[in-house]
Amino acid sequence: MLTLNITNLEKLGAPSTLPDQYRKKLADFLTQFETRNQEFHHVIDDDTVLDEIETFAKKIRGKFSDIVILGIGGSALGATTLRDSLTPTYDPDQIRLHVLDNIDPDWITEMRQSLDLTKTLFLTITKSGGTPETLSQYSYFKHEIQSANLPLADHMVCITGDSGFLREQVETEGLTSFSIPENVGGRFSVLTTVGLVPAALIGINIRDLIAGARNMRDQFISKKSAENLPFQLATIQYILFQDGFTNCVLMPYAQRLKTFAYWYKQLLAESTGKINADGAHTGITPISAVGVTDQHSQVQQFMQGLNDKQFILLKQKNFAENVPIPDLGTHEKVQMLKNVDFGKLLNTELQGTADTMTENKRPNITIEFDHLDAAVLGALFFLFEGATAFLGEYLEINAFDQPGVERSKVLTREYLMK
Ligand code: PA5
Repeated sequence: MLTLNITNLEKLGAPSTLPDQYRKKLADFLTQFETRNQEFHHVIDDDTVLDEIETFAKKIRGKFSDIVILGIGGSALGATTLRDSLTPTYDPDQIRLHVLDNIDPDWITEMRQSLDLTKTLFLTITKSGGTPETLSQYSYFKHEIQSANLPLADHMVCITGDSGFLREQVETEGLTSFSIPENVGGRFSVLTTVGLVPAALIGINIRDLIAGARNMRDQFISKKSAENLPFQLATIQYILFQDGFTNCVLMPYAQRLKTFAYWYKQLLAESTGKINADGAHTGITPISAVGVTDQHSQVQQFMQGLNDKQFILLKQKNFAENVPIPDLGTHEKVQMLKNVDFGKLLNTELQGTADTMTENKRPNITIEFDHLDAAVLGALFFLFEGATAFLGEYLEINAFDQPGVERSKVLTREYLMK
């Protein structure tokens, strides 16, 4: 389903298979990973959750024109990616999914004014159930719903952990809720109720999504490195990191995957940007880009700026529509476009960019897939989650905590309580 093309790395001198010293680490990493108490690779096996979500989606079908997610970080980015990757952008009949992942009052006001509350369903998503940004949004829209004399329980659904403030609201207000499994961190939660509920509500086939993820998960737990794509990816990223390529550019050549690179930015940054056991600062810095748009923007810097970046390009071989570019005549400038369609132009530009990176000694790999559907997206999500888990082991850090963001939360609380 997904293949890793490392031809351009080989041209820069990399071996065609992983060196032994790295291959040997896989079994230990898997054992070490098991002690991390993480379940993101197991929870995708729970079919009853899929049944529960599909039943709910069926029950509310046709009732709402708009769904608004109130949530932030891992409770928002997955749903944004699912919407952008797998649903039509301009179809007037498509149920609209808005992801309100900021507390900018102007955005909140504009969103409120644009909504017909009678046709809007809010999904409040917070694993901890206590994130102030999300609770403030919940409070605001709860008040708006009640002020419009609408039953809160008809317009507010909560996706949250088994304890915390929001869970208490579920009980006291009698709200429909879905549980977020305990041992799955926010940025690893897209394939739990956090991503699956909104996905099902906007018409995505969540069984296909999970099937693709399971397929990649089976690779992730394989002790054979040749069969473990997440391990191969992490190993390449780590070797390049050690060689000084400490930034990682994820550049999908597919407009639909533009926000996938945003989702990955959180995953990689919050998981690897840590202080390791020796007290040293470490981590790979993510950079998001999109082809071909960034060829007229960041690519100048990618080619000639500091040579500290590793590049992962995503190549979609076939697009849903084959759109030919009509003949523009005999002018010499337009001859290259003769008998070319947009997909071919896009992927030829990818090749040109990747090869130029190689000429400039910029290490790049390409992850290829035939076409973009729910199964492929599920596999992509899991590929990067699994690789990030392995990167944590390589970097000797805990990829699943985020101590660096705690202090500012404490200070904000202190300042507000003064
Ligand atoms: O990856 C993480 O754990 C974080 O980015 C969280 O997703 C984010 O802080 C939101 O947390 P919560 O879902 O508890 O509101």
